[in-house]
Amino acid sequence: MATAQQAPFTAVILAAGQGTRMKSARPKVLHELCGRPMLHYVVDAALAAGASDVVVVVGHGRAEVSAALDKAFSAHGKSVRTALQPEQRGTGDAVRCAMPQLKPSTEAVLILCGDTPLLDPGQLTQLLDALAGASDAPMALLTAQVADPTGYGRMLRDGSGRVIGIREHKDASPEERAITEVNPGVYLARSAFLERALAGLTTDNAQGELYLTDIVAQAAKAGGAAAVVARDAGSLVGINDRAQLAAAEEVLYGRIADRLRRGGVTIRTSARVDAGVAVEADAVIEHAVVLRGQTRVGAGARIDVGSVLTDVVVEAGASVKPYTVASQSSIGAGAQIGPFSHLRPDSQIEADAHIGNFVETKKTVVRKGAKANHLAYLGDGDIGEGANVGAGTIFCNYDGFRKHRTEIGPGAFIGSDSQIVAPVKIGAGAYVATGTTVTRDVPEDALAIGRVKQENKEGYAAKLKARLKDAAKK
Ligand code: UD1
Ligand code: CA
Repeated sequence: MATAQQAPFTAVILAAGQGTRMKSARPKVLHELCGRPMLHYVVDAALAAGASDVVVVVGHGRAEVSAALDKAFSAHGKSVRTALQPEQRGTGDAVRCAMPQLKPSTEAVLILCGDTPLLDPGQLTQLLDALAGASDAPMALLTAQVADPTGYGRMLRDGSGRVIGIREHKDASPEERAITEVNPGVYLARSAFLERALAGLTTDNAQGELYLTDIVAQAAKAGGAAAVVARDAGSLVGINDRAQLAAAEEVLYGRIADRLRRGGVTIRTSARVDAGVAVEADAVIEHAVVLRGQTRVGAGARIDVGSVLTDVVVEAGASVKPYTVASQSSIGAGAQIGPFSHLRPDSQIEADAHIGNFVETKKTVVRKGAKANHLAYLGDGDIGEGANVGAGTIFCNYDGFRKHRTEIGPGAFIGSDSQIVAPVKIGAGAYVATGTTVTRDVPEDALAIGRVKQENKEGYAAKLKARLKDAAKK
């Protein structure tokens, strides 16, 4: 999105504050929206706008914040670093702490807050264009018109409409508090000016802090601060409490759904698809479906009502029927899962296999075309191609100390209500009779039967009933 005339710039993201109003042990910027920390959206926006380098100012919960950034960005070769602000002495102090980290080649610094996850990179690009177009101005900033300006810094303009400074809410007079043009906290400053302006800040204000906003008055005297009124004030909201977090998350879920729809996906408004999920064209995501983590849904697959998939790969044309719960598993092309199936981690359901209602799998491969349609526990197993596992089958995989594996050969048939006591192998094409407890390997094409032989006692039921009836009369 960056345009040609822009000089190399670094983004500095302020994220050292505690976020008291979240009432949380977790640092505010790590609270998640759509499965991704708030801060990561801001880093994404900075990178999308063309930042060659990102420095995040950390303080409260710095170890956690740094670890989250490393995992999401540095580990993928993105230039995202941290600078420590040991004590939170205000936004001006926070930027001061980042300055020693700037590369000498940095001509401008984009300053953002870590708690504005709805930020639109397009608006940042507008700011870059504004500074590039105002060669005398040492800085540019976004402003926003809002209905309720409470808490925000107010934009001060002179008689001819030029920005002359920002007044913090706590320092503002009643007249100034009536101003509805506010400072959303998005600035772009030329590096040399920023260095000088930060050195000139004082704590002479209501909060006794170093206000970054005071650099705007300095810029006004040194060539002007170019103000860009935001097209979409909604994208600049800051998150301070859990109600704002919930509202912003709904906006993001809406954006994700819209993006998927543009890609040819049918998705109900009540579905919730997290930021890291990919869905291909012609897939159908039904009501109240939740897709989390790195879930992938292939072309034409259907995820039906109420299913919850976490880190699951669903291949093309598969059908996941209502109320299926699956995690860290894969579902092959054309496979059918559910309703009410539970795929626990490392379940690998291959193409055209069927897993039906109340079937639980874990660390189990269900090979091509194999079926387990009703009520079963299939843990630590390998079920061969085309095998059929009957209702009520249990893989007894745990002896109280260790887990053991069950292997079922291709085309084998496991009759209903069988217990397979692992470790055990059932050969290809073998048959396990209903109600059998399998404790030894079953050879290929053999029949395993292990149940008490049936006996019929002629007339016994009638006699029994007569006796019970008599007893009841007495
Ligand atoms: C700030 C602005 C205000 C603006 C508002 C927009 C100042 C003085 N005021 O106010 O004009 O309308 O943002 O939301 O800048 N932070 C640090 N270190 C600190 C202090 C803050 O890293 O010492 C970080 C916070 O974690 C947060 C951001 O800076 O991400 C903004 O701080 P916050 O205290 O929320 O600023 P406001 O008082 O809301
Ligand atoms: Ca504050």
